[in-house]
Amino acid sequence: MNSKDFLSISDLTPEDIRRLISNAAIMKAEGWSSLLSEKVLVLMFEKPSTRTRVSFDIAMRQMGGHCLYLSPEEVGLGKRESVPDVARVLSRYANAIAARTFSHQTLATLARYADIPVINALSDLEHPCQALADILTIHEHKETLEGLTLAFIGDGNNTAHSLMLAASLSGMNFRIASPGGYQVEEGILQQAQEYAAESGAEIYCTEEPRQAATDADVIYTDVWASMGQEAEAEHRRKIFAAYQVDEKLLSLAKEDAILMHPLPAHHGEEVAENIIYCPQSVVFDQAENRLHAQKALLAEMLGGLEIPLPDYH
Ligand code: CP
Ligand code: NVA
Repeated sequence: MNSKDFLSISDLTPEDIRRLISNAAIMKAEGWSSLLSEKVLVLMFEKPSTRTRVSFDIAMRQMGGHCLYLSPEEVGLGKRESVPDVARVLSRYANAIAARTFSHQTLATLARYADIPVINALSDLEHPCQALADILTIHEHKETLEGLTLAFIGDGNNTAHSLMLAASLSGMNFRIASPGGYQVEEGILQQAQEYAAESGAEIYCTEEPRQAATDADVIYTDVWASMGQEAEAEHRRKIFAAYQVDEKLLSLAKEDAILMHPLPAHHGEEVAENIIYCPQSVVFDQAENRLHAQKALLAEMLGGLEIPLPDYH
């Protein structure tokens, strides 16, 4: 990786993604190591988390390192203390920061003033650690990425942004069906289109879920109201009502299509009751792979690990 920080999937090249996913698979098979002994990661979260917090903590422990968690109340980022000063102080104690923030700008400021790497543990704009785990999960189930078609049904949110960038860098077609006014951000779409022109992937945006889902290899959805949008939840339930992933929508995809969701899921909203427990669902593999993908990321960012790239496609 060329970048000090991992704030966006755009910080990675296609080769970085291939190598990280390949290394994650190796680490998944090998388990514990002492790669990061004497390394400390600070987790600084402005929003709640189960998977991200636990998987980062366990990832550090499995590699012999340590983790320290600062809760939303403790941080007071930009309130109790300015973001640049928090960045300067943490740089004197720790080896890296993984931060979950409301505004992506807060992450960018942290990264600018920190001497140590800053990792995006979710912002309003992107969720790149989730996308890495998702790419690993898709590769595990499909044994390739190039030429596959992923259909994202729902809000053009942080998860959709990172996934669109990761897919377009990896040669995977990306379709997204969102209601008008809830589409992906124009700047990120343009960036993904540039990557797609290089990789041969196709990007397609529609308001019609069935069009997106037809013959797809992967059906992906996420909550209609993200953290921080709770006040809009009721309104969004109406806007997104036709975007629920149910058996009927899933049946339009390829017979061996997989169903994905970053979790937590809102049953009866973006996913029909019980559908995430169907045989096509890989949502708990995704959750598990957060651990392995982040181990590969931390090994590179904190441990300078470079494992030769095995034959991988
Ligand atoms: N998928 C995900 O990021 O989950 P958490 O919000 O529980 O960390
Ligand atoms: N889009 C969701 C993802 C949660 C993992 C949110 O930001 O709340």
